[in-house]
Amino acid sequence: MSGWKNKRTVMQRYDLTAEMYEERYAKEQEAKYLAALQNVSVAGCAVLDAGCGSGLFFSHVAGEVKLVFGVDISRKLLFKAKDQANAFENVMVLQADVDHLPFREGFFDIVFAFTVLQNMPKPSVTLGELKRVTKGGGKLVVTGLKKAFELNKFVDILEGKGLGMDSFIDCEDLKCYVATLSV
Ligand SMILES: C[S@@+](CC[C@H](N)C(=O)[O-])C[C@H]1O[C@@H](n2cnc3c(N)ncnc32)[C@H](O)[C@@H]1O
Repeated sequence: MSGWKNKRTVMQRYDLTAEMYEERYAKEQEAKYLAALQNVSVAGCAVLDAGCGSGLFFSHVAGEVKLVFGVDISRKLLFKAKDQANAFENVMVLQADVDHLPFREGFFDIVFAFTVLQNMPKPSVTLGELKRVTKGGGKLVVTGLKKAFELNKFVDILEGKGLGMDSFIDCEDLKCYVATLSV
C-alpha cells in the first residue's frame, strides 16, 4: 500500500472509532502522560501534541504552558479535541499529517507524540519531521506501542535520528515505551 493510501486507511479507522475512543483508551493514555511528564518541565513552553486524538492530553498541560497545538489526521477525533480545547484559551487544534507539519523549523519547545508512530508508514521519517519543528535544546517525547515495536527496533529508530536520549521508560504497567529526547 502506498504511503497516502495507508494513511487514509488509518484516518478512516480512527474516524470510525472516534465515538468510543475515550471510553476505550483514556485510562491507558493518561498513564502514559503521567509517566512522560515526570521527565520534562512544560512551564511556559510552546507545545505540540502530534496525533492528539480526542485531546485527552490538553488538560494535563494547558494550565502551565504558553500554548498547545493539537494536530491530528482524523476529523472526527479533532471535533472531540476541539471540545476539549474550548475549555482553554491557549489550546488550538488543526487537521494535518504529522509527516508534513504546517509549522516552521524550531517552532515548539516541546513536542509530544503519544501512541502515534505505530500508525506511520515510516516512523523514522515522522520522527525527523517532529524533530524539525522542535527548537534546538528543546525536547521530543515519543511513545512506542510495545505490540508494534520490539524494544531494540524502537531504540534503533530513535538513535537513528541523532537525538540525545534523556530518559527511557519501559515499565510493565504501560503499553508503550516512553522516550524523552533532546533535540
Ligand atoms: C492511538 S491514537 C493516540 C491519540 C492521542 N495521542 C492520545 O494520547 O490519546 C493515534 C492517533 O494518531 C493519529 N494519526 C494517525 N496517523 C496520523 C497522521 N499521519 N497524521 C496525524 N495524526 C495521525 C490518529 O488519528 C489518532 O488520533
